[in-house]
Amino acid sequence: MKKRLAVFASGTGSNFEAIARACADGALDAEVAVMVCDKPGAAVIGKAERFGVDTFVFSPKSYACKADFEAEIVKVLDGKKVDLVCLAGYMRIVGETLLNAYEGKIINIHPSLLPAFKGAHAVEDAVAYGVKVYGISIHWVNADLDGGKIIAQRAFDYDGDDPAEVHRIGQKIEHQLYVETIAKLIK
Ligand code: GAR
Repeated sequence: MKKRLAVFASGTGSNFEAIARACADGALDAEVAVMVCDKPGAAVIGKAERFGVDTFVFSPKSYACKADFEAEIVKVLDGKKVDLVCLAGYMRIVGETLLNAYEGKIINIHPSLLPAFKGAHAVEDAVAYGVKVYGISIHWVNADLDGGKIIAQRAFDYDGDDPAEVHRIGQKIEHQLYVETIAKLIK
């Protein structure tokens, strides 16, 4: 049986698109069962609709606390019988409600060679530091921000000072590495 993925995103959704396309064209023996988004109006929502992927879009502000919206997310994931949760630009720290239900089944992609440059501005921080070797990491998600065990990494050289250029190079690598890594995990 095909494995069932949930992809979580907050913005553009280019990683979501790479995963959904790989599922659609058979490169991944999986199905995106649901796309979860915490930003009503994010571009990723239209992408999910174009791929015919069900969505759960919520506004954190309309819940009293993280535990409340994560309880809703857990219901959605349980209902969709999700095997693997792929965070793909979900710009929110996963809390204990979701971790208690799905720890060991949640992975994240991060635009640095972890454990260097954790957090939401990894590329900008690395450029400011004068880094010459950049990279992408995919890791298990636990209670520590960008802190779980690393599953895959890919590095690239860049000797310049333009974060947008680093993002461009890095995202091409992300799309390939995320699909390859998911394929290995669901084998
Ligand atoms: C990706 O580059 C991902 O590595 C990054 O957000 C971007 C989302 O792009 N994630 C983080 O910075 C997590 N700390 P996308 O919406 O086009 O997939």
